[in-house]
Amino acid sequence: GAASSVLGIETSCDETAASVVARGPDGKGKILSNAVFSQIAEHSAFGGVVPEIAARAHVEALDGIIAAALADADKRLCDVDAIAVTSGPGLIGCLLVGVTTARALAAAAGLPLLGINHLEGHALTPVLTDDVAFPYLLLLVSGGHTQLVAVEGYGRYRRLGSTIDDALGEAFDKTAKLLGLGYPGGPEVEKRALRGDPNRFNLPRPLFGTKGCDFSFSGLKTALRIKAEALVPLSEKDVDDLCAGFQAAVAAIVSERTAHALRVQPWNALVVAGGVAANQAVRSALSELADKAGIAFVAPRSDLCTDNAAMIAWAGLMRLGAGEALEDIVARPRWPLD
Ligand code: KG4
Ligand code: ZN
Repeated sequence: GAASSVLGIETSCDETAASVVARGPDGKGKILSNAVFSQIAEHSAFGGVVPEIAARAHVEALDGIIAAALADADKRLCDVDAIAVTSGPGLIGCLLVGVTTARALAAAAGLPLLGINHLEGHALTPVLTDDVAFPYLLLLVSGGHTQLVAVEGYGRYRRLGSTIDDALGEAFDKTAKLLGLGYPGGPEVEKRALRGDPNRFNLPRPLFGTKGCDFSFSGLKTALRIKAEALVPLSEKDVDDLCAGFQAAVAAIVSERTAHALRVQPWNALVVAGGVAANQAVRSALSELADKAGIAFVAPRSDLCTDNAAMIAWAGLMRLGAGEALEDIVARPRWPLD
């Protein structure tokens, strides 16, 4: 019969996560537990994720996080029907911690093991959290990814565009670092932008008005650096205004690129996922676009937008439900969705 619960494991970047998701008789997913250990404290001094530190932190945290996820779900390992683990894309040392642990647990408990694409996890989250029908347009914006993806069905993804340089979260983090703000940079930049004047600095909008759905943020970052260097020492007001200008440019770019993708075909919804989905300026720009297009705007709740294992367990359930063959899994640092 159809599998009814899956243990998910996620260690592709700087979140150590485990979760149990069950499938009800109605076919819908139910999150029984969602344990996440964030490594922000380990990396903040460096202004970004340090791969070696991340891999070591996963080794130290993973067993405890898996035990917590099982306990919160009131399950033992032998009660679940399969184990699903993120096997790519991501930092290789980090992926290997999850994959090796999952393989050992699966062998010990005699359970099937599934290797899940992290991007597929993000892409299928709205089916778990909201009643979204295919096809929908997904904007994935995180520290490592910036893509517009057509989600046409389970296992049917088409990349419409992606960044040609920095990921959007990375652009926020680099901007924050340049302005002497903390890590992760997104929330810091957003806070300062609220107090700033978005019109004081005229910042460029790379690729604006060009064909297609690709993104570019490095020209924006460079222009901001040049403006900031000309002002040194920066006043608090300068920082506020630079953040406001940066965020306004980002919202305009994201909105213009997404508008192109909305015209590619009819959609049932516009979905945003990834850490940057927490940004209010980005969210309201997208929500306005969806309104204009007459379709639903869906932003999964923030703990399911950022990296988590519930999305991996859910993708595992869908994969099992589709009756897919199980193969031995390998960690793949690069693994595009299509
Ligand atoms: O999805 P996520 O938690 O992890 C991965 O990158 O996989 O995303 C983290 C990224 C960081 O770059 C962070 O600065 C950004 O999301 N972020 C934000 C906000 N909150 C987090 N960016 C802009 N505004 C925010 N409020
Ligand atoms: Zn992610």
